[in-house]
Parts: sequence; C-alpha cells; structure tokens
Amino acid sequence: DGFAAQRLFNQGYSYTYDDVIFLPHYIDFPTDSVQLGTRLSRNIRLTIPCVSSPMDTVTESHMAVAMAAVGGIGIIHSNLDPTDQAALVKAAKARRAPILSNPVFRSPSDRISSEDDFESNPYILVTESGAGRSKLLGYVSKSDWEKLPEKEVKIYDYMANSSESVSSDFDLDRIAAYLDEKRRDAVAIVNDDEVIDLATKEEVERIKGYPKLGAGTVGGDGKWVVGAAIGTREQDKERLEHLVKAGINVVVIDSSQGNSIYQIDLIKHIKLRYPELDVVGGNVVTISQAQNLIQAGADGLRVGMGSGSICTTQEVCAVGRGQATAVYKVASIASQSGVPVIADGGISNSGHIVKALTLGASTVMMGSFLAGSTEAPGTYEYQNGHRVKKYRGMGSLEAMTKGSDARYLGDKAKLKIAQGVVGKVADKGSVLKFIPYTMQAVKQGFQDLGASSLQSAHDLIRSNTLRLEVRTGAAQVEGGVHGLVSYEKKSF
Ligand code: XMP
Repeated sequence: DGFAAQRLFNQGYSYTYDDVIFLPHYIDFPTDSVQLGTRLSRNIRLTIPCVSSPMDTVTESHMAVAMAAVGGIGIIHSNLDPTDQAALVKAAKARRAPILSNPVFRSPSDRISSEDDFESNPYILVTESGAGRSKLLGYVSKSDWEKLPEKEVKIYDYMANSSESVSSDFDLDRIAAYLDEKRRDAVAIVNDDEVIDLATKEEVERIKGYPKLGAGTVGGDGKWVVGAAIGTREQDKERLEHLVKAGINVVVIDSSQGNSIYQIDLIKHIKLRYPELDVVGGNVVTISQAQNLIQAGADGLRVGMGSGSICTTQEVCAVGRGQATAVYKVASIASQSGVPVIADGGISNSGHIVKALTLGASTVMMGSFLAGSTEAPGTYEYQNGHRVKKYRGMGSLEAMTKGSDARYLGDKAKLKIAQGVVGKVADKGSVLKFIPYTMQAVKQGFQDLGASSLQSAHDLIRSNTLRLEVRTGAAQVEGGVHGLVSYEKKSF
C-alpha cells in the first residue's frame, strides 16, 4: 500500500512537506519512549533536533541560550562586525540560566533623576564603570530612590553597598534556591568577577512555569554549545578566528548555493586550520552538490533553497527544489558518509518537522517558527490588534544593507537584487515553552509511524517499510481544518 520514498521521489516532481503524507505504521511503544536525541554534525550531539537559523531577527545570545537550554542549538548570525558577533557568542557561553535580563547599570557618581530607570527592573546595578561587564559595587532599589527627599544626590550616598551575587554557572534551580534562602527578589549574576545580568524572582518564576528543562546542550567546556555563521569571503577567515577565540563549537557556512569554489576552499581551509571544529556546509539541495561538500570535509549539510518563508530565491533566480524532495535526496547520499543533514527552512508546524526528520534529516533549522518568540531579537509592536515582531530574510534589501549580501553572492556583483522580504510574525511566547510542546507533538507523529527514534525512522524509510503518498489539492484542504465558520486555533 502507498509508495516507498525511493519511488515517490524519483518521478520528476519537486515535492514539499505539504505535498506528501505518510501512511500510519504499527505502534508498539508509548509516546514518551520516543527518543529525539540526534546530531547536528559529526560531533555535535543534541537532545532534540531543533536549530535556530543564523538570521538577525532570530538568533543572538538569548536565543542561543534558550535553544541550548531546551536541548537544541542556536547559530548566531553574522550580519554584524566580527567582534560584535564574537561578543554574542561569549555572552551566550557566559550564561547558564535562560533568563532574559536587561539590567540598568550606573556608576556610584551618577544620579538617578527619573523613575524610568526602574521601568523594567526593581534594582539598578551599581558598578565600577557604570556599565555591564564591570565589578559590582551595590544595588539601588526603587523604594530607596523614591524615599530620597532630594533626587539630585549621587548614588554612592544612598546605594546599598553589596557585592552579593550568584555565579553565572548557576542554573535556574540554584538561582531560585538562592533567592528563596536569602529572601531576595533579585540578585546580580557575575561572570569572571564582572556583572552580566540581574536575575529577578519574577523572571525565575516565569521560566519555572514552563515544562521542566533537562540538561540542555552542554559542551566539553561545561558551557552551552553555541554555533555561529560565517560567509565565504576572504575576510570571513578572520571573522572565524574571532569566533573560535570566543569558543564556538561549530561553524555554519552561510551561502544560498553552497556548491561553489569559494565554499569548498573555505571548508578545506577550516578543516586544516581547526581540525577540532565541526563545519556545516551548504546550502545544498542535490546529490552532486552534497557530494562536493562532503568530499571537501563538511561535517554536516544544510539543505534547502528557496523554501524559507521569507525567501524569494526560486522566483528571482529560478533555482531551488521542493524541500521534501531536497531533504530526501541529500540525506540519502549524506547518510552513506555519516554526515548529518539539517532540513533548513519551510517548517511551519510539528508535522513538517516529523516529515523532515523521517525523510532523512537529523535536525530542522527554523527561522519563522522561532522569530516572534520572547527570545528572538527585536521588540514587540502592535499591528491590527496583533502583537508582532519583525522577521526578515537575510537576502532582503534591508538586511543586505547591513552586510548579509555575501550569502547571496551579491557582494561580488555591482547591483544588489533582493532574494528575501521583510515582514512581521505573531508573538509566540517563549521558546522554553513552545519547543517542548512541539517536541511532544513530534513524538506522537513518530509513534504513529512506529519509529521510536530518528535512527529507526531513517531505517524504516530506507528499507521501504514506511510508505507515503502525494496529496492532491483537495486532500490537502481536507487535511487542514475546513468547513467551519470560525474556530480558535490553540494547540497547547
Ligand atoms: P523559515 O521558513 O524557517 O526559513 O523562515 C528560514 C531559512 O530561510 C533561509 N533564508 C533565506 N532564503 N532569502 C532566501 O532565499 C532570504 O532572504 C533568506 N533569509 C533566510 C535560511 O536558510 C533560513 O535558515
């Protein structure tokens, strides 16, 4: 019954996730016994198959920390100066608890003239330099400031001298226990004798309300595993040096068409210069592209061309491939060399994740699915009554103006042509909440397929045991909610 993937994907059609549907198989295990442990690349192990895209509206340090905390990984984008990108890597590596903190720092000789300084924090942190990454001298609470008869006094006249803090390697439970024990509602977090964050009770409670965090993705250095993207320009070798010094665990070469002399030379250079560093090559969508990058030494492959929600590559350049076909084809060849595949782009629900992973991917990389979350860069705004955040393609004119043109080889061309758009996505809440729920949905999909792990799903598809079919347009409509005048979509 149904078709084997091998037959379905060799008929001259480019299929994407929504085009295909699996036939259910046989269940002989409970949902919770499904194991989603996987590899991003040859040597990077993850507990869940989720990766955040190297895009400037998706992955900076907060996202990288949150992704590692839930067992995945974040890839920090490169649309900024190399030293600034390295600082984001360091910031992610310096933190353990996935708290979102935006402390206000002042020096002892400053004055606080407006209560705006207390808007997002119950305390102002007083440091030697008056900025973060400096020695902690004390705290000013809002109530102490309010009690001042004369606001023009300098901070040292009334601040609470205190170096009381917790170490940045404290996890959330230890911070919570510390706040409880000391009956405090906030404490500074210190890394290498310098303050980096303010952990408030409110923030700790917020995270404790989400599904319990496991061990997360921790590297041999005892810190979060963090990746970063680079381009294929000559100066990206220097960028990589900064990133390696900052402690990255994996580098992702960011290119929309990865099968190029520039990328192949760069992979060889990196493997020679940093033999310990895993390199993810891409993007590729065909077997021969993949073979070239594997031969050059890629430890992982990123698959997808034009499938991203903000991409216009297929329209602008007439090149690309349906994502289901691309993932199946590339994975079938990469698996022979033990190179894990990242299904990049086009993920908009847990079903797409199940499809990508079953068709051979070891992880999914997501942009729009994570943009709009609490941890994504940028601030929320309101549009037609909806709370939204900006999400933009790295090939959009707006992003390229900031430097991301290398991904689209636009830097070598005289005129810039956009291959992406700028848009807004809805507020999705915290990654710490919706990723665990999404993974539970993925486990249910795996259970229906009779696959108790990613490896077992890959074995079932390659042995032609799992069967699938193409859905007609009408079948796709039927597979979605239909025939209702209105409904509320709430999944968890
Ligand atoms: P999703 O669908 O998750 O896709 O939003 C994210 C992926 O899209 C790629 N990307 C782009 N592709 N033009 C493109 O053709 C762009 O401007 C662009 N920006 C990002 C990238 O692979 C990302 O992970």
